[in-house]
Amino acid sequence: MAMKYGRGILPDHTFKIMTDRLTYWHYIKLDAIHDLQSNAQTDCFDEPMFIAVHQHFELWFAQVIRNLDETIRRLMGTPPEVASAAALMDRVNREFHLATQGFDVMKTLSREQFMAFRGALGVTSGLQSAHLTVIELLVGRRADEMYHAEIAGPGMVDFQEKYGGENGLLATVARDRASRGTLRVAYDRIAADSNLAGPDFEMLKRQIANFDDQLFSWRKHHYEMAAKVLEKDFTDSSGTVGNEHSCRDNLKVGITHTHRYFEELHEA
Ligand code: HEM
Repeated sequence: MAMKYGRGILPDHTFKIMTDRLTYWHYIKLDAIHDLQSNAQTDCFDEPMFIAVHQHFELWFAQVIRNLDETIRRLMGTPPEVASAAALMDRVNREFHLATQGFDVMKTLSREQFMAFRGALGVTSGLQSAHLTVIELLVGRRADEMYHAEIAGPGMVDFQEKYGGENGLLATVARDRASRGTLRVAYDRIAADSNLAGPDFEMLKRQIANFDDQLFSWRKHHYEMAAKVLEKDFTDSSGTVGNEHSCRDNLKVGITHTHRYFEELHEA
């Protein structure tokens, strides 16, 4: 039975006061926030934390996507806004760094605590999340580099139904980027213009190299966290997405397709 922790902890009247003026709780949508873990599938104490950490990632990934889109727009404009794009990439880096710290919280989950509710999650898996792939499409992943079709299982059938296909989210984002540019395309445009050389461009380079690093190491951090929480089940049990492969082998598919999008900035 799902439990509503936020509403349980705070007195009821906190959620009932209504005024015509804009209030903090309406503006920030506090009621919705306190309801966010209500889809917990068990009464296990640790499950709401597990959900909250995933939500934390999705929340920040959404901001990263929004800010990457705007960074590309600033760089593709005429004239390009290099200084403000570099400042926005600084924000993107801080957001992504903050998101990744969620793994530190998740690592406090023991294997036993996770196993207590893992079964109730069915074939639900992070592989069904499209946000990380959308981020990569914005940065420079090509539509023909997508690997989701290589992984079988009912969870991936659900994923393809929701995000795959000609008119699905991933193909739509890939088409949109072909016309509006990726971070890679936008950066190359600026780098090719010698009139734009200078401190703003150098700052942009540093910020993009930093982001490329963070994106590259995300799967490594996730892999280490999953291995720590799952312990022997990392190799001994099949992946949560519902196929016959181990968690480790499912994760290796994404890792195999991970690469740096700005290799030359790390060599410099
Ligand atoms: C106890 C915590 C976690 C465990 C044990 C875990 C385990 C796994 C496993 C085994 C996979 C491979 C697919 C499968 O077999 O289902 C996977 C994929 C994935 N997970 Fe997690 N995960 C955890 C937390 C998270 C968190 C907090 C996020 C944040 C969004 C996340 C996002 C993802 C993503 C995006 C993928 C796909 C990776 C790729 O495309 O390369 N996971 N996870």
